Amino acid sequence: MTQRVLVTGAAGFIGSHVCEAFLRRGAEVVGLDNFDPFYDRRFKETNLESIETTSSNSTGSFQFIHGDFCDAQTVQRACQHADSIIHLGAKAGVRPSIEDPVGYVQANLVGTACLLQQAQAAGVKRIVVASSSSVYGNTPATPFSEDARATEPISPYAATKRSTELLGHAHWHLTRQPIAMLRFFTVYGPRQRPDLAIRLFMERIANGQPIRLFGDGSSSRDYTFIDDIVAGVMGAHDCIDQFGFRIWNLGSDQPIALHDLVETIASTVGKKPVIERAPLQPGDVERTWADLTRSKSELSYNPSTSLGDGVAAQWVWHQSVQ
Ligand SMILES: NC(=O)c1ccc[n+]([C@@H]2O[C@H](COP(=O)([O-])OP(=O)(O)OC[C@H]3O[C@@H](n4cnc5c(N)ncnc54)[C@H](O)[C@@H]3O)[C@@H](O)[C@H]2O)c1
Repeated sequence: MTQRVLVTGAAGFIGSHVCEAFLRRGAEVVGLDNFDPFYDRRFKETNLESIETTSSNSTGSFQFIHGDFCDAQTVQRACQHADSIIHLGAKAGVRPSIEDPVGYVQANLVGTACLLQQAQAAGVKRIVVASSSSVYGNTPATPFSEDARATEPISPYAATKRSTELLGHAHWHLTRQPIAMLRFFTVYGPRQRPDLAIRLFMERIANGQPIRLFGDGSSSRDYTFIDDIVAGVMGAHDCIDQFGFRIWNLGSDQPIALHDLVETIASTVGKKPVIERAPLQPGDVERTWADLTRSKSELSYNPSTSLGDGVAAQWVWHQSVQ
């Protein structure tokens, strides 16, 4: 039977890749996005063009709705015929959430509540929601396990993601609609958001411009390649009905220090980086590191892209869009 899927944040980085993965399976995909002004709309329009191309080369179909998931009528229309919802739309980014906590709560928490209410009315069978590694805050116990309490977020963005997980649990408890919460660990690869480190550094190093490093370079992130994330999203979608409510880490279990990341990017681009130092930013966690025990055993999640290979793939894409 043809799968009918609503993907929110479809014009964004991860959402556009997930739409394509469902199209390759022959699904009927509805994409919803409001072109949030967080970054240049032209990037999102290009992402939508890629989805359209994949759609025409697949047995699936794609329909785009330009609208806001905080608007009940829009969401009602979007999930009218949906079997599943993949909720990837959000106000993303830690630092801007400090300037605009109300906007983040409205989009990430109120928007998710609106979506879940309509999902219930439409009788959707599976829901997958993007959470974030930022929910772990500066917890000292590594690697980060889904069993950690995660009650000490250090940015409004992280707080909205943790609150969204709790809302999801209440929704499952009351409706029994299966719902997966996926804690993504710094995602990179082709179409990466322009505010994120790898894309920023790549562009500036390639242009001979200085890059700003926050902290002493020892902070670390568990960078995860987009194809591995997409595989995890599809895996969670396919099996969440066996679990009811479940939280899974999707990372790579390979934390990389900032100075090593810069070295990898610089050697890929083939230029020496010019580095400016700045203090660690408020809201930024010191490290992230995913414990993948649960996602490996329950989702057969097996991230296989090394940082070197992933950065090389992003560099190929980067040059193709210049
Ligand atoms: N990229 C990462 O490293 C990362 C890490 C952890 C979690 N996440 C989460 O994954 C999801 C996707 O992130 P991304 O990097 O692709 O970000 P993105 O900004 O590229 O995509 C999000 C999309 O959501 C849309 N959107 C925002 N508010 C909306 C609204 N009210 N109605 C409709 N559409 C709306 C935006 O226009 C955007 O296109 C987000 O929930 C984000 O918080 C991302």
